[in-house]
Amino acid sequence: MVKISEEFIFRLKTICDITSVVSNYLELKFSGKNKKCCCPFHSEKTPSFVVFEETDSFYCFGCGIGGDVITFIEKIENLEYIEAVKFLCKMAGVPFPEEEVDDLKAKKKEKILKINKLAARFFFENLKKSEGIQGLKYLVQKRGIKKNTIIKYGLGVALNSWNSLKDHLKDCGYTYEEMEEANLIVKSKNGGFYDKFRNRIIFPIIDLKGDVVGFGGRSLDENFGPKYLNSSDTLVFKKSFGVYSLNFAKNSMLNEFLLCEGYFDVLTLYQNGFDSAIATLGTSLTKEQARLLKRNKKDIVLAYDMDMPGKMAAKRASLVFEEIGIKVKVLNFNGAKDPDEFVKKYGVLKFKLAVENAITYEKLQFKALDEKYDLNDTDQKRRYIDEFCRIISREKDSLKKEIEITKICQRLSLDKFILLNHVRHLASRQKKMATKKFNKDLIYNIRKKNIKGENLPIKVIKAQEGVLRFLYYNPDRIDLVKNVIDENFFNIKWHKDLYCFLIKSVEQKRNLDLYIFHEVLDESHFGEFSRIINSNIFKGNILSELDDYLKILKEFKEQKLSVLDMTPKELEEKRQEKAKLKR
Ligand code: UTP
Ligand code: MN
Repeated sequence: MVKISEEFIFRLKTICDITSVVSNYLELKFSGKNKKCCCPFHSEKTPSFVVFEETDSFYCFGCGIGGDVITFIEKIENLEYIEAVKFLCKMAGVPFPEEEVDDLKAKKKEKILKINKLAARFFFENLKKSEGIQGLKYLVQKRGIKKNTIIKYGLGVALNSWNSLKDHLKDCGYTYEEMEEANLIVKSKNGGFYDKFRNRIIFPIIDLKGDVVGFGGRSLDENFGPKYLNSSDTLVFKKSFGVYSLNFAKNSMLNEFLLCEGYFDVLTLYQNGFDSAIATLGTSLTKEQARLLKRNKKDIVLAYDMDMPGKMAAKRASLVFEEIGIKVKVLNFNGAKDPDEFVKKYGVLKFKLAVENAITYEKLQFKALDEKYDLNDTDQKRRYIDEFCRIISREKDSLKKEIEITKICQRLSLDKFILLNHVRHLASRQKKMATKKFNKDLIYNIRKKNIKGENLPIKVIKAQEGVLRFLYYNPDRIDLVKNVIDENFFNIKWHKDLYCFLIKSVEQKRNLDLYIFHEVLDESHFGEFSRIINSNIFKGNILSELDDYLKILKEFKEQKLSVLDMTPKELEEKRQEKAKLKR
């Protein structure tokens, strides 16, 4: 754990209050005295992400992520603890207390970035060597990449060798372990190391700060290995967060991002004036990437491949965007498999036209319906209407919904109110189903967590949580607890650690702000602790509540609990048995 003074963090957290920080990212709505919204960390339709202003913390009842404002920034910006603190400092306009930091992880990251930069430079220089000439020829002659583009994107080539990069980095003073942490070399079965990228065109992946965080590589030999190879995740690189060329595209004057599938699509589009082209890194679009793009306030046009997988990917991506409240358009063209090929074959003007003609995924679906059904046939018309209603019932903008419905009613000479009713019915059913599934998942998750933890009666788990909560809010009354029980009353390991930490911290007169618990809790338990301190606060008489908890813990220790107090595991078994009988 890093040492930044508690006093500094305390000050920082007063400036960066959790509600305003979270509101920069999410639309919070009042729910009682707390605020709520859909969780950004897992996929859901009913809000279960709660911000507790009284305790400056948050917790998601769906996925169990929780903590304070620093945890929130860590998660949503994908940063380490120290970086998240720095991020908040920037946000608040306070200088970061540099001299206090001594973070191993941050140092490791810095080293990886340095190694990556050296590697990128090495790959680039290879293009000028005789061993690398094949790569240069491929880029320029076969793929039509211009010199300026090569320089701007820092393209390069990995030589057809098992150790050229490894040897080079060794000469620069780095160890094999460090190169491995950057995922540039790989350990072989006999314990030696070899270059990960060999005989490949190299695309450095650059993040928004301008650092080379990873690499993509296209094989120069179609018969060897996968066509494309990407860096695996490292301390500085997460594939599911990365967007190729976003560092350039975000500064484009164009109004829309052109989201492509491949590196070469991006490069070709860039050379033809579409400097807002970007690509995901060989994975289907993730919510994190979608959110990253949302922040740039540009429209999005999906320029995926025109084959079946590309069309499926476009559908999936549209739905991911829809979930975070963005409607994207989908590009459609014929006669070429991807944007790269299309522009080369038909020229930039035709491509521009295709971009202008791009329509939303929803409209695309309507168009497909028109082609699928013959509206002169009553049965087919009926099915057409059903499918139409299902599509439009997902529309969140109610005015738009009404407009579309009015339009179709005029076209098919139908009564508008009948259709509106039908759609409303469908929408409410969808919502109900989503809620049901959510509740089921919620109960299941909590159960699963407890089963994984210890085989304790729920009553006992709750009592342990209650005592911990009491200590957190009443550091002046720890004697009431200490006189009755000790740490051996806590059977769950992290509860026990937490108990000892609480007692020790109170004795040291530390300020019990949530963030100091990073010292004793790992990420998931930190989230759980956030839930614990935010549940059942100040309901009724705290002291008598504490007495109840202590009594349960004592009885449990003395084996006096009744057989009726089942453990979550037993409950789950019973539930399954019941389900079996039903079948
Ligand atoms: P494509 O196979 O469509 O590549 O994969 P492409 O860009 O048209 O390739 P060229 O034109 O033959 O060179 C699209 C993207 O999917 C990822 C890469 O990011 C690629 O750019 N991919 C593809 C992989 O990660 N691994 C693979 O084996 C193939
Ligand atoms: Mn392609």
